[in-house]
Amino acid sequence: MSLAVLDTPQAAGAAAAAVVQECVQAKPDAVLGFATGSSPLPLYDALTGSGVDFSRIRGFALDEYVGLDPGDSRSYAAVIESEVVQRLGLQPGAVRLPDVAAADLEAAARDYEQAIRDAGGVDLQILGIGHNGHLAFNEPGAALDSRTRVEELAERTRRANARFFDSPDQVPTLCITQGLGTILEAGHLLLIAHGADKADIIARALQGPVDTDCPASALQLHPRVTVVLDRAAAAGL
Ligand code: GLP
Repeated sequence: MSLAVLDTPQAAGAAAAAVVQECVQAKPDAVLGFATGSSPLPLYDALTGSGVDFSRIRGFALDEYVGLDPGDSRSYAAVIESEVVQRLGLQPGAVRLPDVAAADLEAAARDYEQAIRDAGGVDLQILGIGHNGHLAFNEPGAALDSRTRVEELAERTRRANARFFDSPDQVPTLCITQGLGTILEAGHLLLIAHGADKADIIARALQGPVDTDCPASALQLHPRVTVVLDRAAAAGL
């Protein structure tokens, strides 16, 4: 595991962006895994206007809420469109998300897993981490070899994500998420975190035991992980 600690979230974003640029320069049609949430935003900021040609990349989102109206600005589809597709100048539809409008959600989850395989797998997976150690929406208790599936959100995650909604009860209760086993199949994992509120869980994930109480501890099982933190998030290491 390689670890970089930078002074600010912006500097961490720039350092993480360099990893993404290196990947795309080496493989212009790379398959990138995109995270949502606030953690990767400094990375997407740093990639914007970087001059790197992203026009041939393909992408997969980690997860998506079930139950929001199509086009809802809080959906991860909308976030990926505004923060990734528009800003990096990707082809329309270049980043795929789970089909949460499908009548059969379990089948949609299986199809998504297959689509990742059909694309040849993810070359570089960008990751944030939840306060309870969730990766994507793999909440504590998720099996380390879990696959893309329909899941319930933990109450702590719904409370954390309520900041994007008008009231906590508007936060969906269900999602489709890539599994931990799915994520671990990516060639290279890039975890970015910032802020003092992530310090405890970063230490637990990177230096604690590998178990399902902390889904992000699964990162320790992967042979190629790059962790980029600001100083506050690294304080517990
Ligand atoms: C969200 C997402 C995750 C994200 C995590 C951390 O709920 N499903 O993919 O990494 O929680 O979010 P944030 O970066 O906003 O702290």
